[in-house]
Amino acid sequence: MDQVWGNWMKDLSVNAVGMRYELPRGGFVQALEDVSFDLEAGRLLTLLGPSGCGKTTLLNILAGFLAPTAGSVELGGDAITGPGQDRGMVFQQGALFEWLSVAKNISFGPRMNRANRSETSAKVDELLRTVGLQGFGDKAVYELSGGMQQRVALARCLANDPDVILMDEPLGALDALTREKMQGLILELWKETGKTIVLVTHSVEEALFLGDRMFVMAPRPGRIDRDYTLPFAEVGLTVEPRELKASPEFIEKREEVLSLIWEMEEQIMGHEGG
Ligand SMILES: Nc1ncnc2c1ncn2[C@@H]1O[C@H](COP(=O)(O)OP(=O)(O)OP(=O)(O)O)[C@@H](O)[C@H]1O
Ligand SMILES: [Mg+2]
Repeated sequence: MDQVWGNWMKDLSVNAVGMRYELPRGGFVQALEDVSFDLEAGRLLTLLGPSGCGKTTLLNILAGFLAPTAGSVELGGDAITGPGQDRGMVFQQGALFEWLSVAKNISFGPRMNRANRSETSAKVDELLRTVGLQGFGDKAVYELSGGMQQRVALARCLANDPDVILMDEPLGALDALTREKMQGLILELWKETGKTIVLVTHSVEEALFLGDRMFVMAPRPGRIDRDYTLPFAEVGLTVEPRELKASPEFIEKREEVLSLIWEMEEQIMGHEGG
């Protein structure tokens, strides 16, 4: 695998990051305040928390789409000041080029970089296999199911061989069964490629299952409330996912995190009510 995936062990470092959105009619929203963490290369970090706690904002800052209003972000010691090929983004849905075939979607990045044609074509074939879509290269995107489209989105991201993959609720629009299958695929890709992944999800179960580290974030201002190190992602590669999710350890953690988030939601409602 080392020949296929270039991993340079770039750690991610987030230092006292704040994000304040100025509102057009005056006032502001403090979407993030004093967010700091270090993430070693090759970890799978999940971000969980109530709506509005700054998850997407944080991903956008890591992607370089947004500049934080305080603090700084570094990847492999270099400041992140804009989008770059060392980071790739996978969105919830709708981010594929509808007018291009599956293969053309996947090869988009390499083609923009004027990569060697036959190498690119071989890479596309390999990526199609990796995400379980062999034989689908010539299909149009609209011919595919939602789950298949997310496989294409993953493959397109991997085609650029980023160091860090950022995913904003990548499985949020899928039905339960497809979602479980895709969780398995993400774990496999993570292990196979050794890439750093930061994944936002609204599902407690998904955050626990996929993350070998998990932040529970809290809103107003958006911040990291809890920082968990988790055993399940490692185990999930060898144990049947259903079995793992039904284990006492998993259920105990799930209930702990659920009640934490419920408390947060109640506090938010309380604020809004009074
Ligand atoms: N461009 C913007 N201008 C003003 N406020 C914004 C902007 N983008 C986000 N916000 C606000 O910043 C806060 C954090 O938003 P963000 O989208 O990062 O939250 P989130 O955790 O991703 O929420 P969700 O779970 O609903 O996707 C929210 O209060 C949101 O309303
Ligand atoms: Mg969001």
